[in-house]
Amino acid sequence: MKVTVVGAGAVGASCAEYIAIKNFASEVVILDIKEGFAEGKAMDLMQTASLLNFDTQISGSTNDYSKTANSDVAVITSGIPRKPGMTREELIGINAGIVKQVSENLIKHSPNIIIIVVSNPMDTMTYLVHKTTDLPKNRIIGMGGALDSARFKYRLAQALEAPISDIDGMVIGGHSDKGMLPLTRLATRNSVKASEFLTNERLEQVAADTKVGGATLTGLLGTSAWYAPGAAVSSMVQAIACDQKKMFPCSALLEGEYGMNDISIGVPVLLGKNGIEKIVEIELDAAEKSKLTESAEGVRKTNSLLEL
Ligand code: LAC
Repeated sequence: MKVTVVGAGAVGASCAEYIAIKNFASEVVILDIKEGFAEGKAMDLMQTASLLNFDTQISGSTNDYSKTANSDVAVITSGIPRKPGMTREELIGINAGIVKQVSENLIKHSPNIIIIVVSNPMDTMTYLVHKTTDLPKNRIIGMGGALDSARFKYRLAQALEAPISDIDGMVIGGHSDKGMLPLTRLATRNSVKASEFLTNERLEQVAADTKVGGATLTGLLGTSAWYAPGAAVSSMVQAIACDQKKMFPCSALLEGEYGMNDISIGVPVLLGKNGIEKIVEIELDAAEKSKLTESAEGVRKTNSLLEL
C-alpha cells in the first residue's frame, strides 16, 4: 500500500506520522510545494522509525508528482488553514484552485487512486474533486465526520466523567461550525443512551462545544488543529488499506441517499479497499432531518461560490 500525503504542513505531517506508527502501509510519500520541506519532514519522521518500531518507508518530494506514481490512496491537506475568527468557508477562493490542481496531478500519475480531501471548506472541496475529475464517486472521500465524531466523544466523555473507550457517538452533516450535527440522541456509554445520564441541557452543551471544536482550537493555537485531524485521516486510510469496512461519517457524494442529490456532505459510510463501499442510511427523527437539510443548504451556498 502506497499512500501520498499532499501538504507537509502540520496536518499532513501528523497524518504521515500516525500512518507510519500504525505500520500498515509500505510507503508514504509526502509532497509539498515549499523547496525541501517535505524531504525534511520525511527524513525527520524516518529517524523515528527505529525508536517507534515501524517499517513504513517515508520519502519527501518538492512538487514532483512522478514520485507519487501508483499510489493507492492520497490525502489532500494543501491550502491555507484558517486563522482565529475565520470560518472554513472563507478559505474557498485560494483553496479551490489548489485542490483542483493537486487532484488532477495525482490522478495523472495514479489513475486508480482513492482521494481523501481534508482541505477546507472540506465538503465543497470534496464536491469540487467530484465535479472536476473522472474518478468514480466511491474514490473521492471528504474527511470531517471522523474528526468531528472524535471531538464529540471527547466532550461526551468529559460530561459523563467516563473514559473515552466507554463512549460511542457520531457527527453527520457539513464540516462547519453551524452545519455539524452531533447525534446526541444516539450517543451511548456502553450501549446505554447518554441521555439516561445527562440532562437535555447538558447534552445540548456537549453538541454546541463539539460544533465549535475546530474554532476553539484555532483560537488557542493561532492556526488550525493537527493532531486529531491527522489521526482521523490515518484511521480512514487504515480502513481502506486493511479493507476493514469500518463505519465513519465522511463527506460522500449523495445520489438520492438521505433524500439529497448533487452534494457531498457528511453521512455514515463503510470504508474498505474500494473507498466508500456503502453509504449507510440511518433513521433520523424529524428534528435531525430538518437540521441535516439546513446543513445541506449551507454546503450548497458554499458550493455555489465555485467556478465550475
Ligand atoms: C478542523 C479542521 C481540520 O476542524 O477543519 O480542525
